[in-house]
Amino acid sequence: MKEQIRVMFSEEQVDARIAQLAAQISSDFEGEEIIAVGILRGGVYFCTELTKRITVPVIIDFIEASSYGAGTVSSGQVNITKDLIEDIEGKNVLIIEDIIDTGRTLSRLLENLKNRNPKTLRLCTLLDKPERRIVKVPVDYNGFQIPDQFVVGYGMDYAQKYRNLPYIGIVEPENA
Ligand code: IMP
Ligand code: MG
Repeated sequence: MKEQIRVMFSEEQVDARIAQLAAQISSDFEGEEIIAVGILRGGVYFCTELTKRITVPVIIDFIEASSYGAGTVSSGQVNITKDLIEDIEGKNVLIIEDIIDTGRTLSRLLENLKNRNPKTLRLCTLLDKPERRIVKVPVDYNGFQIPDQFVVGYGMDYAQKYRNLPYIGIVEPENA
């Protein structure tokens, strides 16, 4: 399929929203230090742009988990393909994700990280598709709520393409 991208949120809109989120997070963590955990690969652009604007001390780390797998959702079993370098025990952890869809991946990852006894564990996502949720996840910071549409850009891919678009768009067949 030949596809084209229709803009959903422009680079300016995304940047402005990220600045607001960073201000909120900086105020919520006043006097504290944060370990920002970007989720690879989709969360990487959002993680860098967000943390650039956070004014409290930030340590950056990344984790990669393979999405869907067998097993019960509540077991905390998750296939971590690249683990954190930092020890998060007793630390303020801020998970930074591109988009929450069914919530499956993140609920397992949250449970895994919770077992490492951080001081606080919060979740920040650039986009949320609540209509698609199967497993409940506590979202502390959300950039934009969107309907059930497949989006790309700002880290998000379609068959590994378009992650590097500086805006968020919808994939459509060409000439749609
Ligand atoms: P979940 O476990 O179903 O919540 O999966 C969420 C993950 O699926 C996200 O971190 C993305 O990597 C991917 N994903 C979900 N929806 C989209 C989308 O619209 N565009 C690109 N990736 C998506
Ligand atoms: Mg992802």
